[in-house]
Amino acid sequence: MNNLNNKKILLIICGGIAAYKSLEIIRLLKKNGVTIKTILTKSGAEFVTPLSIASLSQSKVYQDLFSIENEAEMDHISLSRWADLILIAPATANTISKLANGNSDDLASTVALASNKKIFIAPAMNVRMWNHQSTKQNIDKLKTYDYRLIGPEIGDMACGEYGAGKMSEPQEVINKLDSYFKNLKINNKLKAIVTAGPTNEYIDPIRFISNKSSGKQGYEIAKSLSKKGFDTTLISGPTNLKTNEDINLIKVETAEEMFQATLNSLPADVAVFSAAVGDYKLKETSKIKIKKQDKLYLELEKNVDILNYVSKHNFLRPKLVIGFAAETNNLVNYANEKLNEKNCDWIVANDVSNKKIGFDSDFNEVSIFYKNKKTDKLKYKPKSEISDELVDKIINHLN
Ligand code: CTP
Repeated sequence: MNNLNNKKILLIICGGIAAYKSLEIIRLLKKNGVTIKTILTKSGAEFVTPLSIASLSQSKVYQDLFSIENEAEMDHISLSRWADLILIAPATANTISKLANGNSDDLASTVALASNKKIFIAPAMNVRMWNHQSTKQNIDKLKTYDYRLIGPEIGDMACGEYGAGKMSEPQEVINKLDSYFKNLKINNKLKAIVTAGPTNEYIDPIRFISNKSSGKQGYEIAKSLSKKGFDTTLISGPTNLKTNEDINLIKVETAEEMFQATLNSLPADVAVFSAAVGDYKLKETSKIKIKKQDKLYLELEKNVDILNYVSKHNFLRPKLVIGFAAETNNLVNYANEKLNEKNCDWIVANDVSNKKIGFDSDFNEVSIFYKNKKTDKLKYKPKSEISDELVDKIINHLN
């Protein structure tokens, strides 16, 4: 099914031998019923002509930042507001660097900086440029700014070398855009809640009991849900992690605050409880700093179990409730126990005895335990990819 019909796409064409592919992208977008406006950078114009772009796109090509004619007709702000989505293809190392650093010295980078739309980039460059540490850092930054990456692919390059950096084929670019709009259509009425990170349970005004959870997996799950069109609320304990604007981020400190924020955010279609909620809190938190003494006895009492409360609630329970289990041993038994005792639909379990995965790592390996006794294993990979796969399973389940 065509999900691109009647969409408005702003295509930014940068310099590079792959710019010829942008002409095919325009042709395919037009074929799918898309209205296109294009920006051609100065170096892009060395590879494709404004005339060929205008003929194929049947609309004007924007080139200069300070053109009275352009600004009167459609200024750089309106260009991004007009579009449903921005596609930069090919995206050169130079443009990627400008976007990552917030530069705005030409029309393309200014529009991107001023944009309030999803921006997809299809990088194209030599393999050494792509593998260079600076490009890697720039790409990582763009991911945190919620840019979407298409490719690049591995293959023979125009320069005669071989490796990663080849721009994705036009049809692949079209498929990615189509599935983005498809996901938006399917999921944008669905609401998701994710809890993430540790909690701090205060002993006195400046001391607390906490745990090693980094929150990374939960943040990635929230990002994957939001990227697939869910209206996503992330309830996070203290972390230094960043998230994107589309996610409704609620910052909390204690388990009690996380509990209240979760209740306030319900109802939802899916709730993912990835937070490492402190099991205990102080029976009484001292209002003043406790002075040193030979022995200090702390009386702890159990915190409310947020997952357990929500999953057993008779009308607030989301359609799909997913709990987490971090275990050092006996993973299968403990995960199944949690699944049953906490009335979850799924438990995502990981073995935290392995230092390379789980807590504070960017990588993870998890097993999903389902109510119907089936299991799935998501092998060792970046937490962002684990999240994408988990969210695909959530979408399949809800649909
Ligand atoms: N959870 C919660 N609220 C709590 C405690 C846990 O929502 N107060 C959720 C976690 O977010 C996670 C799951 O419950 O989804 C973890 O279960 P839990 O029994 O707390 O795991 P552990 O703390 O590891 O417990 P145990 O030591 O018994 O294994």
